[in-house]
Amino acid sequence: MDQLKRQAAARALDEVRDGMQLGLGTGSTAKHFIELLGERVAAGLNVIGVPTSEATRADAERCGVPLTTLDEIDHLDLTVDGADEIDPQLNLIKGGGGALLREKIVAAASDRMIVIADDTKWVPTLGRFPLPVEVIPFGLGATRRAIEKAFAQCGVSGQMAVRKAKDGHVFVTDGGHWIVDAQLGRIADPASLAKALSAIPGVVEHGLFIGLASSAVLAGGDGIRVIERR
Ligand code: A5P
Repeated sequence: MDQLKRQAAARALDEVRDGMQLGLGTGSTAKHFIELLGERVAAGLNVIGVPTSEATRADAERCGVPLTTLDEIDHLDLTVDGADEIDPQLNLIKGGGGALLREKIVAAASDRMIVIADDTKWVPTLGRFPLPVEVIPFGLGATRRAIEKAFAQCGVSGQMAVRKAKDGHVFVTDGGHWIVDAQLGRIADPASLAKALSAIPGVVEHGLFIGLASSAVLAGGDGIRVIERR
């Protein structure tokens, strides 16, 4: 599986050109991309990156990839990031690693987004992977009720749980927020659900990435498949 992730990362690297300003994703697949990018930088490639998490910042520094922020530059040419699920319209569920807020800000500031993944992430319909919803701890009861209402309006339902870290404490995002993971099973209309969740005051962001991915690079046993958004 790790080899497939690296193959997808290597294919995305072919799209990187000298002088590009890059969004650097988070997660085990994006980490391969950062390592391979670091090798190219060491060989003379001139790029600059914006990391989507503190973990990615640390990886990029370790690999020698120069970094900047979205305050210092006005756009990104390309973002390369992983995903938890990818559907045929290239809608995504992201946030399994908890970095969805910065990932979405970076993807939205980017001219193109390439999603890299092993082909187990490819699904006919989103929802098997629990949908992460990043929330403000204040008023969480009210926010949860509003989320349930939004789910009902969009024809989905399922268990919700506040994400815990490995040490058993509540998982806190890089932005200081919490994440509620919702087991929805099948999201028939992700665009409507995305809109409904974004309208809830206590919701900071959610893991539905609609219309952001330009292409997906999927690595499987039979080789690499590149899918462009129509
Ligand atoms: C991080 O918050 C996520 O959006 C990751 O991009 C996603 O969970 C994919 O991670 P892996 O590449 O580790 O599967």
